[in-house]
Amino acid sequence: MQSILIKHLGKHVGEEVTVQGWLYNKRSSGKIQFLIVRDGTGLVQGVLVKKEAPELFDLAKGITQESSIRVKGIVREEPRSVGGYELTVTGLEVISMAEEYPISHKEHGVDFLMDRRHLWIRTPRQNAILRIRAEIEQAARDFFHQNDFTLVDSPIITPAACEGTTTLFELDYHGEKAYLSQSGQLYNEASAMAVGRMYCFGPTFRAEKSKTRRHLMEFWMIEAEAAFFDHEDNMKLQEELVYFIIQRVLERRRKDLEFLGRDISKLEAIQLPFPRLSYTEAVELLKSKGEEFEWGQDFGAPHETIISESFDAPVFIHRFPAEIKAFYMKPDPEDPRVVLGADLIAPEGYGEMIGGGQRIDDLKLLEQRIEEHKLPREAFEWYLDLRRYGSVPHSGFGLGLERTVAWICKLDHVRETIPFPRMLYRVYP
Ligand code: 4AD
Ligand code: MG
Repeated sequence: MQSILIKHLGKHVGEEVTVQGWLYNKRSSGKIQFLIVRDGTGLVQGVLVKKEAPELFDLAKGITQESSIRVKGIVREEPRSVGGYELTVTGLEVISMAEEYPISHKEHGVDFLMDRRHLWIRTPRQNAILRIRAEIEQAARDFFHQNDFTLVDSPIITPAACEGTTTLFELDYHGEKAYLSQSGQLYNEASAMAVGRMYCFGPTFRAEKSKTRRHLMEFWMIEAEAAFFDHEDNMKLQEELVYFIIQRVLERRRKDLEFLGRDISKLEAIQLPFPRLSYTEAVELLKSKGEEFEWGQDFGAPHETIISESFDAPVFIHRFPAEIKAFYMKPDPEDPRVVLGADLIAPEGYGEMIGGGQRIDDLKLLEQRIEEHKLPREAFEWYLDLRRYGSVPHSGFGLGLERTVAWICKLDHVRETIPFPRMLYRVYP
């Protein structure tokens, strides 16, 4: 079954090759038929002329959309054709004839498509998004690898909450209560004390009762944690990661971005360093734009959008009031009302893409915070150990993969950024 991938057709101009895939679309003028084949790496048009190959021509006529097929043909350069090449078909074989395919080339409603997500991902647009997602994941791994961060996987089943108790998915763990991980962070802190600089990358879970363009119940987070990193080092690492990802996608997935209709110049314009705004400055900015906003409130999506519109690059908002942030955030020694944490807000209204900060490294203060937040101390004893045995200043962050994909591709909703989205009231397929 020697065949070549459609993306490699350019290396075989003039040769006879075999391509295997699915029939994406078909056109006919009576005397000529065009079979558009997809194999996941691209599309190619196969051309059949009735006069030259009547049997193949008749066979082609009966092939239904999404049937799996094997096409033999001579590769020709054809700039006007999808993908830039064409196959003059010399052989055709049906592997499995498809039943009437539910997703036609017409417009469909989102609910219809979401119910058929397992088929929807076959379309060129969804293919492009999945490839960009994969590129972002690979870029993040390469970035950390090149910067001496060790991959240390964190567990998915955990005994305690990391990001507050309101969004926990509870499990019956052989009679004990356990939860799906909201973030690998607490384990990452342990790992950073073991290997110095670490990252992890895995699914995380939030039982969010939110039905927004930005929320999923299951999403993937790229997290990093580093010993002897302060808040400033942490922001620098984050902006370098995001910049690296953008450059990589521009370099390797430009065609996919173009296919999605992304305004690439907006991504190209992004430069280091990213702007930094304190929470207090952000509140002033909102007020100057006519928003009613009290110091101490948390930002909602509309506030983040207003802030992001003032900048062409992602923007850090740092030093939030301690009250609206997680228990582990280190207070700013110069103003203990605020913490040394930052959110990175994506441009073009995509909202928070990274949350991170410097962690409390003092045992007494951390014990106090666990109590104030009414967290079950027993579940955190191991975490407190990290402050008992060689505590050091350390920082870390988590980048939400789906929000990053949504922004880079400029999609309306995170549901298209992940192969099988888990959303409020949707867990099928
Ligand atoms: O800001 P969050 O909650 O931060 C943490 O979980 C930290 N413990 C991470 C760390 O420091 N290691 O979440 C981090 C990012 C957000 O900025 C956002 O991009 C994404 O995860 N995120 C979600 N993405 C999709 N759906 C949801 N429900 C999300 N909740 C958070
Ligand atoms: Mg956050």
